[in-house]
Amino acid sequence: MPTLIQARDIADYEGQEITLQGWVYNRTHKGKLVFLLIRDGYGFVQCVAFQGELDAELFETLAHIPQESSVIVTGMVRADSRAPGIPGGYEVGIMGVEVVQAVGDEYPISLKEHGVDFLLDHRHLWIRVPSQWAILRIRTTIISAIREWLEQNGFTLLDTPILTPAACEGTTTLFETEYFDEGPAYLAQSGQLYNEANIFAFGKVYCFGPTFRAEKSKTRRHLTEFWMVEPEMAFCDLEQLMEVEEQFISHIVQRTLRDCRNELLSLGRDLSVLERIVPPFPRISYDEALEKLAQIRAETDDAEARKLLEIEWGDDFGSPHETALTKLFDKPVFVYGYPTGAKAFYMEPWPGRPDVSKSVDLLAPEGYGEITGGSERISDPDLLLKRIHEHNLPEEAFRWYIDLRRYGSVPHSGFGLGVERTVTWICGIEHIRETIPYPRTINRVYP
Ligand code: 4AD
Ligand code: MG
Repeated sequence: MPTLIQARDIADYEGQEITLQGWVYNRTHKGKLVFLLIRDGYGFVQCVAFQGELDAELFETLAHIPQESSVIVTGMVRADSRAPGIPGGYEVGIMGVEVVQAVGDEYPISLKEHGVDFLLDHRHLWIRVPSQWAILRIRTTIISAIREWLEQNGFTLLDTPILTPAACEGTTTLFETEYFDEGPAYLAQSGQLYNEANIFAFGKVYCFGPTFRAEKSKTRRHLTEFWMVEPEMAFCDLEQLMEVEEQFISHIVQRTLRDCRNELLSLGRDLSVLERIVPPFPRISYDEALEKLAQIRAETDDAEARKLLEIEWGDDFGSPHETALTKLFDKPVFVYGYPTGAKAFYMEPWPGRPDVSKSVDLLAPEGYGEITGGSERISDPDLLLKRIHEHNLPEEAFRWYIDLRRYGSVPHSGFGLGVERTVTWICGIEHIRETIPYPRTINRVYP
């Protein structure tokens, strides 16, 4: 019996008879040869049928087999540097094929170009194509690397609720639902507030789950449902937080390079750009960032670009600002010390500068921008209560959160990493919507 293999391992079977179970991604016909590009969930392999070697009926079947038909192929593996595929470089000389289902209807996603709305309407089928398959495999590896690093570094996973009584990241992006007799509940924007309770019991913790923002913006960086990993640490200040973040991000990138080389190459990613992602990362303050932006503006001839880059002290960065800043560095850059007014209510003030917060965002290079947001948290109960009032948040819903500052308060810090933003950057692609199996955006909940 030939061995049933996975396409990614094909190089290990050169000169052997193997079986592949999968689907016909593409078929081309050249004289006495039929080339089938077979995908099996683990890669894409060119399989070649030679008329002289197969019985006439089987050859005829293969010569007309429709795209996406399911098949079990048996054949001999041989090296051929011209063979396309992921990983490529090997092909299978077909000896036998069992057709599990010959597709009868025309497959909607033919191999010509399609518009993105059409593809998103057919997301359940689009995930089969090589680029989408590669992106989602990379996503899986990134998630695995995230969990691996946190577990190896003493973080305890504690799941935080998705139905919550109050806002964490501003009241303008809440999804609201009626909760029995309790009034409104909101889909979680972040698990952070619960993480903060959990560190007083477990030291270093993280949560990792879907988070929700009713984002009205239609940008290539925003989803309404996205996955966020949020580590939180007791006895940790802003400086220590940045050290953790750079170790964490570097691990994710290096592990992806190790395990997803073929997927990254299939997307045309320049690996040398990712190989550089090792600690330390540069750090600049918000004030320095503003100076750099002023300089970039001064050196720009394009009036429209200059206008987009305008910013005043106190404003949060928009995409154009982040994009311009990241182009100055070939690694992710930390921007710390944002104006208090531009950030969430829970951030510790800068010593001696109450208008500045001990906050830090990590901006990914090549124009990708913010992938993490974090801060040191307010540890004084009176200041926290004052901020809750200033932000017009309901004090009742935060009673438990203020308690944390009354029973053994310590300096503590944490951050959130958006999985899809990270996948977008590591893959080097344009748009966040391709980094999650079924994207949710302002105008899409199907399929
Ligand atoms: O900067 P954010 O809003 O920070 C928080 O939620 C903190 N409570 C995290 C913490 O300190 N525990 O979000 C964190 C990250 C962003 O840097 C971004 O990567 C991602 O979450 N993110 C989004 N990703 C996709 N679509 C959106 N609408 C996103 N909003 C935030
Ligand atoms: Mg942020």
